[in-house]
Amino acid sequence: MCGIVGYVGQREVVPLLLDGLGKLEYRGYDSAGVVVRHGHELTTAKAEGKLERLRAKLERAPLPTGGYGLGHTRWATHGAPSERNAHPVVDSKGRVALIHNGIIENFLALKHRLLDAGWTFATDTDTEVVSNLVSSHLDETSSLTEAVRRTIAELEGMYAIAALSTQGEEQEIVAARHGPPLLLGYGEGETFLASDAAALLAYTRDVTFLENGDLARLTTAGATVWDAQGEEIERPQHRINWDPVQIEKGGYKHFMLKEIHEQAQALQDTFSGRVDFERRAINLDSLGPLADPDALAGIERIHLLACGTSWHSALIGKFFIEQLARIPVEVDYGSEYRYRDPIVDSRVLAIGISQSGETADTLSAMGAARERGGRLAAISNVVGSQATRIAEGVVYTNAGPEIGVASTKAFTTQLEALYLLSLFLRQSRGKPIDADLLDPLAHLPQAIVETLEREDQITELTRKYFRSENFLYLGRGLDYPIALEGALKLKEISYIHAEGYPAGEMKHGPIALIDEEMPVVAIVTGAQEVADKVTSNIHEVKARDGIVIAVTDRDPSSLENLADEIITVPRISPFLQPIVDVVPLQLLAYQVGVKRGCDVDQPRNLAKSVTVE
Ligand code: M6R
Repeated sequence: MCGIVGYVGQREVVPLLLDGLGKLEYRGYDSAGVVVRHGHELTTAKAEGKLERLRAKLERAPLPTGGYGLGHTRWATHGAPSERNAHPVVDSKGRVALIHNGIIENFLALKHRLLDAGWTFATDTDTEVVSNLVSSHLDETSSLTEAVRRTIAELEGMYAIAALSTQGEEQEIVAARHGPPLLLGYGEGETFLASDAAALLAYTRDVTFLENGDLARLTTAGATVWDAQGEEIERPQHRINWDPVQIEKGGYKHFMLKEIHEQAQALQDTFSGRVDFERRAINLDSLGPLADPDALAGIERIHLLACGTSWHSALIGKFFIEQLARIPVEVDYGSEYRYRDPIVDSRVLAIGISQSGETADTLSAMGAARERGGRLAAISNVVGSQATRIAEGVVYTNAGPEIGVASTKAFTTQLEALYLLSLFLRQSRGKPIDADLLDPLAHLPQAIVETLEREDQITELTRKYFRSENFLYLGRGLDYPIALEGALKLKEISYIHAEGYPAGEMKHGPIALIDEEMPVVAIVTGAQEVADKVTSNIHEVKARDGIVIAVTDRDPSSLENLADEIITVPRISPFLQPIVDVVPLQLLAYQVGVKRGCDVDQPRNLAKSVTVE
């Protein structure tokens, strides 16, 4: 999704903006641009495609040095991905440059009004409406802050914007947030703006997250923030403790591979400090008021709200919560929830699950639950993200920054966080947490390390199957969502058509697809009766000449004359087994994507954080 970087201060601004945008590349984008103000002049440079093209352009035709500015990576919503539509967008009088994330829903009505008033448009973007509007208000006031304030009063939709103008003598950026994230960063005699802390970590760790409705004015002396009511307000400063090297590739060819390998550590970091193995107790203080047993006693139903990979975690979370705490759970796609007019009251705990904490569909579902009187929690990887701020309590997945667009360590830590939450709910209902539920957590990191040792085998078998145009993934019970996740990973990374199915459903339709060309990835783990049934399904595939790649925690000899390939994984415990089982599927998707020459960290058309509905 779009990225924003802004800077006022004495550093060389263009390299700083490009560096910051580089840190946001993982979000996915299709064009990029920068604007710098020198004296009273605005100079822009833009390019379609990757940041490299903008860098090359700036090398050929550098912008004048000095000054301050804004940078943007655009993920097209209105208007094709092109240099013409790239941001920053300058108004038709050439005095305001503006960048924007999100969608202005009433842009057409505003555009007609501006056209009637003589403003012209050089792009197809909704953003140009905003730059022209700000400029039109500069005809009424000489203050850029006031012009932006008047502009946002007219906007409908979700947006984060940042503007600078040719007016005034002081270095000044004005930004506003209504939806997509924006944060301020502070240094000595310099102030930063970004849509994501990753862009600023090389320069500062002291940041302030803007709230919805906030307007901010940045100068070299700091920032002034006004809330939605126009009152000047002090938003809290946070210190971000991510290490900049954490967000580099650390020797791996791709972020995705690095993040797959970081899972043992991430899982350890997610349970550390929360599990008392001796007293067999779970501590989830970060749930705030929801950690209170009296509050939890009033919860009769749970709604899990999520999108994409996080929705797959929710499917497994339902299983955990119902089995361990005996609370009924409904799972919804964030994008669908409010349209079914869900039945919610204060006895419902809605939990938004989101790696980024900024997914618009999940946030709107969380809002819908809250509006109806539900209690609200979040499971997220990003401290200070919107989901965590609207929720009463949070369970953080301590996975560290996930840069690859394909979610890997965020997924496995979400599963672990859901498991901890289920045990916590169980404990709050006075049920014992036996050692067989708790102790396997301590063995999980090692089980992941052992599973990662299968990497060479997976690289080898990838050579045989990477040209296949279709894949089917089958699993039962807890491994059914893992089959869905394996298929999603493969299609995201390699653009191969892949479907995940409950293994028992295969005979009700998908079996028609099976032929000697199609690899079927079957997950044969878990309880004996489940594994036996999946084995029967493998027989059905083989009877139709299908190719079977089996992932199993059993003695491989049981599948030797049946499966074409057998990937063994360590057995851990029935509840934690899916966390182990997904790892070979992540590696398979990664290796196939690499072999097919795909951009695995930034797959086409995808964004890391989807901040539009
Ligand atoms: O940040 P979120 O967990 O809310 O993101 C939800 C989905 O957009 C995300 O999981 C998406 O499906 C990933 N690309 C999966 O790898």
